[in-house]
Amino acid sequence: MKFFIDTADVPTIRELAATGLVDGVTTNPSLVAKTGRKFIDVVAEICAVVKGPVSAEVAALDHETMLAEGRRLARIAPNVVVKVPLTPDGLKTCKALSVAGTAVNVTLCFSAAQAILAAKAGAAYVSPFVGRLDDVGSDGMQLIADICEIYDQYPDFATEVLVASVRHPIHVVQAAKLGADVATLPPAVLKQMFAHPLTDKGLAAFVADWKSTGQSILEG
Ligand code: G3P
Repeated sequence: MKFFIDTADVPTIRELAATGLVDGVTTNPSLVAKTGRKFIDVVAEICAVVKGPVSAEVAALDHETMLAEGRRLARIAPNVVVKVPLTPDGLKTCKALSVAGTAVNVTLCFSAAQAILAAKAGAAYVSPFVGRLDDVGSDGMQLIADICEIYDQYPDFATEVLVASVRHPIHVVQAAKLGADVATLPPAVLKQMFAHPLTDKGLAAFVADWKSTGQSILEG
């Protein structure tokens, strides 16, 4: 399972990339707005920090402008993945960019039917939003199960399932059990995944017991 991080904050990306656990980055207009910085500069910086796929989202809603924006974003770096919304114009843009060799992430997916369309449009990734579905009383993870099951029936679908709108480590575990290809994690969720009180307690005991031996591994 690949881990992307869902943020446009470059210092945070740098910090988490240093763990060696980050395979890529996803951004969206809301995350970019939070930085208060110029979008193109932010994407260029992220692409220099993380060599894996970096999703950058178009802003337009019509096909022609989306295509122009997608081509502009793709020129920033070879690892840019152009993100388009799951609309008729978005999927038309997805098809055009994919055929031309640009990887596309189709975002704002909330149904299995939409995910089928994204695969048929040649998307490299489809992003179902599990947290936002949970928020409205639907079962976000059931959507992941449905999409994985459907895509498994069709080996010619090359689209990877990118679990988005992840809210906590349990979402990650559930997505992993279902065989989802990627989870894009808010930085806080990646940090939460490390945490367990028994790890802290056990480590404190090991540190104390080791100290009592008076030994040093490096100076022994
Ligand atoms: O980047 C898309 C997605 O991960 C957004 O998540 O938390 O705004 O629902 P959220």
